[in-house]
Amino acid sequence: MDPLLDRLGRPLETLRISITDRCNFRCVYCMPKEVFGRDHAFLERRELLSFEEIARLAGLFAELGVRRVRITGGEPLVRRDVERLVAMLAELGLELALTTNGSLLPQKAEALAAAGLSRVTVSLDSLDDESFRSLNDVDFPVSRVLDGIEAAAAAGLPVKVNAVVKRGVNDGDVVALAEHFRGSGHVLRFIEYMDVGHTNGWRLDDVVPAKEIVERISERWQLEPLDAARPDETAKRWRYADGAGEIGVIASVTQPFCGGCSRARLSAEGRLYTCLFGRKGHDLRAPLRLGASDEELTETLRGIWGKRTDRYSELRTEETAALPKVEMSYIGG
Ligand code: GTP
Ligand code: 5AD
Ligand code: SF4
Ligand code: SF4
Repeated sequence: MDPLLDRLGRPLETLRISITDRCNFRCVYCMPKEVFGRDHAFLERRELLSFEEIARLAGLFAELGVRRVRITGGEPLVRRDVERLVAMLAELGLELALTTNGSLLPQKAEALAAAGLSRVTVSLDSLDDESFRSLNDVDFPVSRVLDGIEAAAAAGLPVKVNAVVKRGVNDGDVVALAEHFRGSGHVLRFIEYMDVGHTNGWRLDDVVPAKEIVERISERWQLEPLDAARPDETAKRWRYADGAGEIGVIASVTQPFCGGCSRARLSAEGRLYTCLFGRKGHDLRAPLRLGASDEELTETLRGIWGKRTDRYSELRTEETAALPKVEMSYIGG
């Protein structure tokens, strides 16, 4: 069969699967409390794809060329029995990672590793307790995320750490984060604050460009650029000249990387998005529940990817930033 390419010649290689739209944090740049407060309507359980439905779709995606699966949320570890899903997805033999805020890793890391997870990405935006507690807005201390990272490492899971940088909020913490994770074996990546969703009130002035982040770190330690390991890499990588490991910067705003983007995203209720900045998504749950065959579903997936032209980050303007878009907590980053 011909390789599946979109209209811009990009293959489909990574599937990011959101398994819940709920989270135990209320990060100000993602699920601000005034919007996601008590009255916010989260999905009902029956609206979520079941683990069996997710695994069936993932299997069809694998046949279409997907080689990497990322489990995301909301916070994926708040979904009950997540390790059962990990075990089901691990059977596909793909690289299988999970992106988490780390809060539940002390309880879950061992079971996840035993179920066949390849690695974890933990979000941690600051090491300063006061600033981290106000960023997550549920008063969660830094120490418990660090415990989660340690638990993952102890369970044998390689760890990446993601830090979103927002001007005036945690840009002063960049060097401290770098210092902490240098030499730890964990890869630290800084993410430019993005205009995902519609609730975080994003402004270009809030973005700290990757260039500035790298400059601040290289004032302390010499950095050398690394070549991209894959054409669809999100992060530009740098290594410490003294051998203390590497860092990455995900510069979606100032250096967009749509050219190699091979990522599809499946929402918790079974909508397929071909871009993080999508508006609607394609409903796969209805055909699944109406008894579509594997062949029919595969044809649907091929049709969606074959028509894809998304390159939002390359087209971003102040106007597009204000358009309604799917929330990050719903689609999992
Ligand atoms: P690998 O980097 O493949 O190991 O997987 P990962 O899930 O650990 O990280 P990835 O690089 O895929 O994503 C890290 C973060 O980068 C995400 O949580 C998003 O914030 C951002 N990101 C990922 N993919 C995209 C994308 O396609 N577009 C944009 N604009 N940002 C993305
Ligand atoms: N801009 C950049 N990154 C974001 N994340 C959540 N919201 C945003 C945003 N507006 C990050 C999380 C996590 C990953 C899934 O995406 O902190 O690391
Ligand atoms: Fe939860 Fe992650 Fe969003 Fe923070 S960024 S509110 S931890 S889903
Ligand atoms: Fe891919 Fe859309 Fe991100 Fe561009 S903006 S890299 S097309 S998800």
